Order: sequence, then C-alpha cells, then structure tokens
Amino acid sequence: MGRRPFIVANWKMNKTVDESVGFVEKFLPLVSGVEDVDIALAPPYISLMPVSRALQGSSVALAAQNMHWEEAGAYTGEISPGMLRDAGCRYVILGHSERRQYFGEGDGEVSRKVLAALQEGIVPVLCVGETLGERDHGRTFDTVGGQINGGLADVVLESGQDIILAYEPVWAIGTGKTASPEEAQEVHSFARNQLSDIFGNNVAGSIRILYGGSVKPENAGVLMSMADIDGALVGGASMEPDSFAGIVRFGN
Ligand code: 13P
Repeated sequence: MGRRPFIVANWKMNKTVDESVGFVEKFLPLVSGVEDVDIALAPPYISLMPVSRALQGSSVALAAQNMHWEEAGAYTGEISPGMLRDAGCRYVILGHSERRQYFGEGDGEVSRKVLAALQEGIVPVLCVGETLGERDHGRTFDTVGGQINGGLADVVLESGQDIILAYEPVWAIGTGKTASPEEAQEVHSFARNQLSDIFGNNVAGSIRILYGGSVKPENAGVLMSMADIDGALVGGASMEPDSFAGIVRFGN
C-alpha cells in the first residue's frame, strides 16, 4: 500500500529544555542515514521551540502532545493550534489515554481538537485503545470503534489533508506488557475497516495506524512486520537516543 513507516517519540511530562535539546544533539547523528521512515518528537510544550530550532535542517519533525481547539481567548493554561504551528509543529497527539483518564477528555473534546488541527494544517495523531477491563469483557472493538467514530465525527478529509491513528491498548502503556503482534494486528485491521466505513477504501488504505504500548527496539521489528501496523508511538523507550534510534531502525 506504500504507507511510509512513522515512528513518534512521546516524552509525556519528562525532560527539561536542556535534556530535550541534548537528546536531539545525540539522536540526529544516530538516524542520519534513515530515509525511508518518518520520525517525530513530541516534547513537553516549553521545549517545543528549542527542539524545533535544534531539529532545523533535519528531516525529524516536531509534534505536540495536546492542544486546545480554540484559536485564542480566555483559556488559562491552554495552547492553541496556531501557537503550535508557530512553534513548528507538524503533528499533534490528541486523545491520548492519559488525557482521557486523568483530565476527563471525552470523544467530544477530542473531535473538536481533531477538526481544529486539520483546520490549522497540523496532522492529528488520534489515540484510541481499550482498558484491561474492557478487553476482558470482550469490549475491545466496541471501545476502539466508538473512539474512532467519536474522534473523527464530522471530519471530511480534503485532498492533501492527513490524519494518523494510534492504537494504544491502555493495559500495555508503561507496563512492559506489549500486545502480541497478532493481538495488535487484529485491532489495527478492525480500525482500518472502520476508517473505510468513514472515508472509503482508498483513503483508509493510505492512513497510517501506529501501535503504542511498551514498544522497544527488541519488539519493534516484529510489530512493524504486521500488515496494518504502520509505525509506533513510543513512551518509555523514546527517552534515550540509542533506544529510540533502535526503534526507528526496526529490523536493521
Ligand atoms: P510506553 O511506550 O511507555 O508504554 O508508552 C506508550 C505511550 O503511551 C505512547 O504514547
């Protein structure tokens, strides 16, 4: 299908500005020969500008971890789509399970954010995934399907617009428990069918679906070999340049 692999580092609430820039300085030489993989780093907000500068001249892109849907106004503590564009963000992670779990984000907010990102020309990375309880009760597809439909409500992709989906089973995040490649593929394939229902087969076939949840250099290759796994959204193993570069070079 020709989907370019996409590997994203989500640093969550980790790294000072100096640590973020220090990472970039060590990381860029490690991936300088990599041409067939898209790479993005999502540092905390205050490191966006310095990391953006440090990435200049490289093909590694900048991503934000969240944003508000309004362009400006009285929203204390929030950051707008335009501000992220201004900082050089090409992507924004939206609806991460930690946002849903700790900050009460629901599909309604996530959908507004997705629409606002597209409007601003930022590519949304929409995160979906079931909890362990939902999986145990046979509700994985219900949950993931509902989050996809909810997060993409009213989205019409115009030509040149792109979205990324990230399947992150909540029980695999930061736990060291990775979904088996087959378990992940089963949900990715379901998600692609759901995308086909929304956007049609052609568009759904071009949308990259990332897997997230305890991805490491040791398991990246086999996950990436699955038909509908097009990349990885990496937390813990993206914190060290060597380890993240090992994931970017999956299988090499
Ligand atoms: P871990 O890679 O630490 O499991 O985190 C996954 C994640 O939440 C990335 O967004």
